Amino acid sequence: MSERTAICPGTFDPLTRGHLDVVERAAALFDRIIVLCAAHSGKRTLFTLAERVELARAAVAHLENVDVDAFEGLLVDYVRDVGAHAIVKGLRSIDDFQHEQQMAMMNRRMLPAADTVLLVTAPHLQYISSSLVREIWALGGDVDGFVPAPVAEALRHKRRQSQHS
Ligand code: PNS
Repeated sequence: MSERTAICPGTFDPLTRGHLDVVERAAALFDRIIVLCAAHSGKRTLFTLAERVELARAAVAHLENVDVDAFEGLLVDYVRDVGAHAIVKGLRSIDDFQHEQQMAMMNRRMLPAADTVLLVTAPHLQYISSSLVREIWALGGDVDGFVPAPVAEALRHKRRQSQHS
């Protein structure tokens, strides 16, 4: 049987422990995972695309079958180009579900060959979101429990930089 590849797309600004849990579980379900950082041209991000890719790489370094890439444009174009079979996303709540269901249906309409797989977030990580991590960090709070160690270190570095500028 041919290798089964799945894409885990997201903005990952920054990548959280919730994201990492989904990637780890997807890596156990598929032969190969590509964590795909979206450029998100319309949105101002805390970390640049290059920084988000670097941090994702550091966070998944322990997973042999996981690669990290960046993209700009339509997700289904990337999925088609690499011949992936699935798009994997995490599902925390009913709000997530409404948004994810709509995107899954749109993507399926554009690329029927790839299915979206929604993994229900582990209960102890359900409340974590990148936006709240950014808010807590911006207000001087401790976010170490919400993000993988390399991301926590990058956030500390960014804080030191902003204090000295
Ligand atoms: O982590 P996020 O911010 O919820 O990720 C959203 C993302 C990047 C997966 C989504 O916005 C996306 O797929 N963007 C690429 C552009 C695209 O294909 N848009 C049509 C979606 S139906």
